[in-house]
Amino acid sequence: MGQKGREIVGPEVNGIISLLNQAVAAEALAAYRYLYLSRWAAGMEAAEIAEAFTKTSEEEWQHMSRLMDRIVELGGRPLTRPSEWENGSYAKFHEPPRDQTDLKTMVVDSLAVERVAIEFYRDLVRKTEGKDMVTYLLAMELLADEVKDEEFFESLLKGWK
Ligand SMILES: [Fe+2]
Ligand SMILES: [Fe+2]
Repeated sequence: MGQKGREIVGPEVNGIISLLNQAVAAEALAAYRYLYLSRWAAGMEAAEIAEAFTKTSEEEWQHMSRLMDRIVELGGRPLTRPSEWENGSYAKFHEPPRDQTDLKTMVVDSLAVERVAIEFYRDLVRKTEGKDMVTYLLAMELLADEVKDEEFFESLLKGWK
Protein backbone atom coordinates (compact mmCIF):
# COMPACT_ATOMS: atom_id res chain seq x y z
CA MET A 1 0.00 0.00 0.00
CA GLY A 2 1.17 3.46 -0.75
CA GLN A 3 1.31 6.70 1.11
CA LYS A 4 -2.41 7.48 1.02
CA GLY A 5 -3.32 4.03 2.22
CA ARG A 6 -1.10 4.49 5.27
CA GLU A 7 -2.16 8.09 5.82
CA ILE A 8 -5.83 7.20 6.24
CA VAL A 9 -4.97 4.87 9.12
CA GLY A 10 -3.67 7.77 11.19
CA PRO A 11 -1.54 7.92 14.30
CA GLU A 12 -2.53 4.54 15.71
CA VAL A 13 -0.75 2.68 12.93
CA ASN A 14 2.13 1.51 15.15
CA GLY A 15 -0.22 0.07 17.73
CA ILE A 16 -2.11 -1.76 15.00
CA ILE A 17 1.14 -3.14 13.53
CA SER A 18 2.12 -4.42 16.94
CA LEU A 19 -1.24 -6.18 17.37
CA LEU A 20 -0.89 -7.69 13.91
CA ASN A 21 2.53 -9.03 14.88
CA GLN A 22 1.07 -10.64 17.99
CA ALA A 23 -1.37 -12.36 15.68
CA VAL A 24 1.42 -13.42 13.30
CA ALA A 25 3.14 -15.09 16.25
CA ALA A 26 -0.05 -16.80 17.42
CA GLU A 27 -0.92 -18.05 13.93
CA ALA A 28 2.60 -19.40 13.45
CA LEU A 29 2.35 -21.32 16.73
CA ALA A 30 -1.12 -22.55 15.82
CA ALA A 31 -0.07 -23.65 12.31
CA TYR A 32 2.94 -25.51 13.69
CA ARG A 33 0.93 -27.11 16.49
CA TYR A 34 -1.85 -28.31 14.15
CA LEU A 35 0.67 -29.68 11.69
CA TYR A 36 2.44 -31.45 14.54
CA LEU A 37 -0.83 -32.95 15.79
CA SER A 38 -1.77 -34.07 12.28
CA ARG A 39 1.41 -36.19 12.25
CA TRP A 40 1.31 -37.15 15.93
CA ALA A 41 -2.29 -38.31 16.36
CA ALA A 42 -2.56 -42.08 16.41
CA GLY A 43 -5.04 -44.79 17.27
CA MET A 44 -8.73 -45.30 16.65
CA GLU A 45 -10.50 -42.35 15.02
CA ALA A 46 -7.13 -40.66 14.49
CA ALA A 47 -7.18 -40.59 10.69
CA GLU A 48 -10.16 -38.29 10.42
CA ILE A 49 -8.92 -35.98 13.16
CA ALA A 50 -5.44 -35.90 11.66
CA GLU A 51 -6.93 -34.76 8.38
CA ALA A 52 -8.83 -31.99 10.16
CA PHE A 53 -5.61 -30.90 11.90
CA THR A 54 -3.84 -30.74 8.52
CA LYS A 55 -6.59 -28.57 7.09
CA THR A 56 -6.64 -26.29 10.12
CA SER A 57 -2.87 -25.94 10.00
CA GLU A 58 -3.04 -24.78 6.39
CA GLU A 59 -5.75 -22.30 7.29
CA GLU A 60 -3.76 -20.81 10.18
CA TRP A 61 -0.72 -20.55 7.91
CA GLN A 62 -2.89 -18.65 5.43
CA HIS A 63 -3.99 -16.34 8.25
CA MET A 64 -0.37 -15.62 9.05
CA SER A 65 0.39 -14.73 5.45
CA ARG A 66 -2.55 -12.32 5.26
CA LEU A 67 -1.50 -10.66 8.51
CA MET A 68 2.06 -10.26 7.20
CA ASP A 69 0.73 -8.69 4.00
CA ARG A 70 -1.19 -6.18 6.06
CA ILE A 71 1.82 -5.32 8.24
CA VAL A 72 3.91 -4.66 5.14
CA GLU A 73 1.12 -2.58 3.62
CA LEU A 74 1.07 -0.45 6.75
CA GLY A 75 4.80 0.16 6.43
CA GLY A 76 5.65 -2.15 9.33
CA ARG A 77 7.97 -5.09 9.64
CA PRO A 78 6.66 -8.58 10.38
CA LEU A 79 8.47 -10.51 13.15
CA THR A 80 11.85 -11.52 11.81
CA ARG A 81 12.75 -14.47 14.05
CA PRO A 82 10.87 -17.67 14.90
CA SER A 83 12.19 -17.27 18.47
CA GLU A 84 9.82 -14.31 18.80
CA TRP A 85 6.75 -16.45 18.18
CA GLU A 86 6.25 -17.85 21.66
CA ASN A 87 6.90 -14.62 23.57
CA GLY A 88 5.30 -12.42 20.96
CA SER A 89 2.03 -14.31 20.74
CA TYR A 90 -1.10 -13.13 22.52
CA ALA A 91 -1.74 -16.73 23.53
CA LYS A 92 0.32 -19.41 25.21
CA PHE A 93 1.55 -22.45 23.32
CA HIS A 94 -0.19 -25.71 24.13
CA GLU A 95 2.42 -28.43 23.94
CA PRO A 96 1.14 -31.58 22.21
CA PRO A 97 0.44 -34.43 24.65
CA ARG A 98 3.07 -37.11 25.04
CA ASP A 99 0.46 -39.82 24.46
CA GLN A 100 -0.22 -40.07 20.73
CA THR A 101 -3.63 -41.58 21.35
CA ASP A 102 -4.75 -38.77 23.65
CA LEU A 103 -6.92 -37.22 20.96
CA LYS A 104 -9.19 -35.69 23.55
CA THR A 105 -6.46 -33.47 25.03
CA MET A 106 -5.49 -32.47 21.50
CA VAL A 107 -9.03 -31.36 20.77
CA VAL A 108 -9.64 -29.72 24.17
CA ASP A 109 -6.44 -27.67 23.78
CA SER A 110 -7.40 -26.79 20.20
CA LEU A 111 -10.68 -25.48 21.47
CA ALA A 112 -8.80 -23.26 23.93
CA VAL A 113 -6.54 -22.00 21.11
CA GLU A 114 -9.54 -21.10 18.96
CA ARG A 115 -11.39 -19.39 21.79
CA VAL A 116 -8.47 -17.11 22.60
CA ALA A 117 -8.16 -16.33 18.88
CA ILE A 118 -11.85 -15.40 18.78
CA GLU A 119 -11.36 -12.99 21.68
CA PHE A 120 -8.25 -11.49 20.12
CA TYR A 121 -9.86 -10.86 16.71
CA ARG A 122 -13.03 -9.57 18.34
CA ASP A 123 -10.86 -6.98 20.15
CA LEU A 124 -8.96 -6.21 16.95
CA VAL A 125 -12.26 -5.59 15.17
CA ARG A 126 -13.26 -3.17 17.93
CA LYS A 127 -9.91 -1.39 18.00
CA THR A 128 -9.76 -0.85 14.23
CA GLU A 129 -13.38 0.08 13.68
CA GLY A 130 -13.62 3.52 12.13
CA LYS A 131 -9.82 3.85 12.09
CA ASP A 132 -8.36 1.24 9.77
CA MET A 133 -11.01 -0.24 7.51
CA VAL A 134 -8.72 -2.72 5.77
CA THR A 135 -7.41 -4.28 8.99
CA TYR A 136 -10.97 -4.15 10.34
CA LEU A 137 -12.19 -6.23 7.40
CA LEU A 138 -9.30 -8.67 7.73
CA ALA A 139 -9.94 -9.08 11.47
CA MET A 140 -13.63 -9.80 10.76
CA GLU A 141 -12.74 -12.46 8.21
CA LEU A 142 -10.23 -14.16 10.49
CA LEU A 143 -12.73 -13.94 13.35
CA ALA A 144 -15.29 -15.77 11.21
CA ASP A 145 -12.74 -18.51 10.42
CA GLU A 146 -11.84 -18.99 14.09
CA VAL A 147 -15.53 -19.18 15.01
CA LYS A 148 -15.87 -22.01 12.49
CA ASP A 149 -12.85 -23.77 13.97
CA GLU A 150 -14.28 -23.51 17.47
CA GLU A 151 -17.58 -24.91 16.26
CA PHE A 152 -15.78 -27.82 14.61
CA PHE A 153 -13.73 -28.81 17.66
CA GLU A 154 -16.72 -28.37 19.91
CA SER A 155 -18.77 -30.74 17.78
CA LEU A 156 -15.93 -33.29 17.86
CA LEU A 157 -15.96 -33.23 21.65
CA LYS A 158 -19.72 -33.71 21.78
CA GLY A 159 -19.30 -36.88 19.77
CA TRP A 160 -17.08 -38.34 22.47
CA LYS A 161 -19.35 -37.83 25.43
FE1 LIG B 1 -6.08 -18.35 12.66
FE1 LIG C 1 -8.31 -21.33 13.96
